[in-house]
Amino acid sequence: MKNITIIGTGYVGLVTGVGLSEFGNNVICTDIDKDKILQLNSEVIPIYEPGLKEILNRNVKSDRLFFSDDISSAIKNSEVIIIAVGTPQTEQGKANMSYVNSVVKSISQNLNNYKIICTKSTVPIGSGKKIIDTLSNDFDEGSNFDYVSNPEFLREGSAVKDFLWPDRIVVGTSSDRAFKIMCDIYRPLYINKNPIKHTTVETAEMIKYASNSFLALKISYINEIANLCELVGADIHDVANAMGQDGRISDKFLHPGPGFGGSCFPKDLESLIAISNEKNLPMETLKAASNANKNQKDRMCIKLEGLVDGGLKNKKIALLGLSFKANTDDIRESSAIDMINFILNKGGFVRAYDPIANGSMSKIFKNISYFDDVYDAIRDTDCIVVMTEWNEFRSLDLPRIKKIMNDNFILDTRNIIDMSELSRLNFVYDNVGRLKI
Ligand code: UDX
Ligand code: UDX
Repeated sequence: MKNITIIGTGYVGLVTGVGLSEFGNNVICTDIDKDKILQLNSEVIPIYEPGLKEILNRNVKSDRLFFSDDISSAIKNSEVIIIAVGTPQTEQGKANMSYVNSVVKSISQNLNNYKIICTKSTVPIGSGKKIIDTLSNDFDEGSNFDYVSNPEFLREGSAVKDFLWPDRIVVGTSSDRAFKIMCDIYRPLYINKNPIKHTTVETAEMIKYASNSFLALKISYINEIANLCELVGADIHDVANAMGQDGRISDKFLHPGPGFGGSCFPKDLESLIAISNEKNLPMETLKAASNANKNQKDRMCIKLEGLVDGGLKNKKIALLGLSFKANTDDIRESSAIDMINFILNKGGFVRAYDPIANGSMSKIFKNISYFDDVYDAIRDTDCIVVMTEWNEFRSLDLPRIKKIMNDNFILDTRNIIDMSELSRLNFVYDNVGRLKI
């Protein structure tokens, strides 16, 4: 059991803090955003993440989990400091390290005894070495501090599960002392099974980028295969299913869609491209994956324009799903953003519905209509576009929809609506790579 401070209480920091307190550690989650800390201290969770509230409340009640904006005293009172601030993408495609750097400064101002400085945020390979060098100006590595790279593999929407039952935990450090302490904070996982992989700092940093970029590449690949299926008369679901039965390929992340989004894949891919360029070893596969993803987002827009008779001018479009994937209210890099821009540019009207992400999207698009009920959004529209694979869209009442729509067009970018039912009801529809019935 250790005393841990998490700096940055966003998606990753909050789930990590809650998860580590669940493992029996004493955790203080800190953030420069005082409102966020106020909310958390009033039992309001600023993000939507299934299962988080219950575990959070339990650990707060057990006096193992605290929220504070006093970063200095949190650091002083902890043995392990976990950096989980954002590393958003800069215009050059690189990761913005300014938040991490300012946190390192606060840590050095409060390093009162031996501590482990651990980075969970995704940072360019070589960042750990720079942090060690910075801290080494004033302190001795090994006696005042040790550095650890402990990347996160938390999917939004299933982050709690991913934290409590991880496939692996990567601990990159040159210090055996630090490695033992890290094993200790993940002790419940360590007792039953040993998913902890000890590597160097640079290897840990690379594992994170290589994993996310590979998954992004896999999605771009299946999206391109899906697009080709449309032209050669094959069905992507059968293709992906049979591919996935080959253990060497695996059936995960083979679902075609409107292009990947979120706070990680797009930026991690661009960041690794920038790193490889800097090293004079441009990675063609990564560039292709990134371009294919941009094309996929455009392709969905072009599909929509081709589907609706007479183009989109003055047409009312029901947009179902705004978040970048189901089970989150996060809209960062969501394909829905590209779709809304396209419809508005073409002179159409958007009637948006998302079970939880309306609020997030309304901060970007103030001039579209938002609905709290999916059928209200659909009423009197010419076309429906499904952008996110929320479960409730899998069981839409299509006969009812047929009656309340103006026209009968449906673009299902997630392939979740039953095609035989669409045909039976004479909808004119399109999706991604399916053999039409
Ligand atoms: C995380 C990681 O940080 C990122 O590197 C990874 O690749 C994806 O996930 P996320 O948790 O999604 O990012 O970030 P965000 O939701 O933006 O939260 C960051 C938090 O850090 C915010 O609450 C912000 O207020 C806080 N912060 C930022 C600080 O506490 N101090 C700072 O100096 C800057
Ligand atoms: C990702 C990583 O998976 C996770 O390990 C962590 O590093 C944070 O980043 P996240 O972005 O939350 O997680 O979601 P993920 O489930 O990976 O989906 C990313 C995007 O890919 C979404 O837009 C999703 O819709 C899309 N996707 C995913 C597909 O289009 N097809 C698939 O088969 C899987």
